Amino acid sequence: KEESSPRQLLKDKKVLITAGPTREMVDPVRYFTNFSSGKMGYALARAAKRMGADVTLVSGPTNLSVPEGVDVKYVVSTQEMFDAVMREYGSQDIVIKCAAVADYKPAVRYNSKMKKTNEAWQIEMEKTVDILESLGRKKEHQILVGFAAETDNLEEYAEGKLRRKNLDLVAANDVSKEGSGFGSETNELLLLHADGKKKVLPLVSKDRAAELLLEEVSELMGR
Ligand code: CTP
Ligand code: CA
Repeated sequence: KEESSPRQLLKDKKVLITAGPTREMVDPVRYFTNFSSGKMGYALARAAKRMGADVTLVSGPTNLSVPEGVDVKYVVSTQEMFDAVMREYGSQDIVIKCAAVADYKPAVRYNSKMKKTNEAWQIEMEKTVDILESLGRKKEHQILVGFAAETDNLEEYAEGKLRRKNLDLVAANDVSKEGSGFGSETNELLLLHADGKKKVLPLVSKDRAAELLLEEVSELMGR
């Protein structure tokens, strides 16, 4: 039986969601990444679709299957995610950056497999582009939502990201906490708005957390 559909709060809105980790190659067989499963981003894509949105999902590598009716663009590196997001940005009403983007990448990418030697291997890392910060600088009509993954000083760090990246809303989660970390089936989000409004969501399934976050976002529309 069909699951009951939520209110069509995002009817005909264009929503872009990024999900999963990004991956930075050092040679053809090795890469740097993080523990993101993509579950929260995919839950957001499904929930936005159920709420009537036209959804584009820009996804890093995950084991998840494509949500029905969602336009998925697969990417691997941070630069690829940046390019895909920038291509779509102008036409979007809402952008939610749920992806756990790699902060650093190897300064050199080798074209053939590095062979081991008797020496230690030092890898120089350089910063990746901050996709969300770039979106914040280019923001026009869009509602821009970021995530903040923290292990300490949750509210203070999340607030800093909200301001620095010119966001309308940040969803903060303590990734060191049982039930809200990477790979978990559940999440406990703290929502901070640009206008200072604050909301603590309960510990719920990622599907429910996605719905609650999107309801909050829908209230920002038409302001
Ligand atoms: N983000 C991004 N591009 C990056 C890094 C992060 O778009 N290169 C986005 C994430 O998708 C998320 C938000 O910025 O929506 C915050 O990511 P997070 O890793 O929590 O914060 P950082 O700004 O990277 O700072 P730090 O990792 O040091 O806490
Ligand atoms: Ca980061």
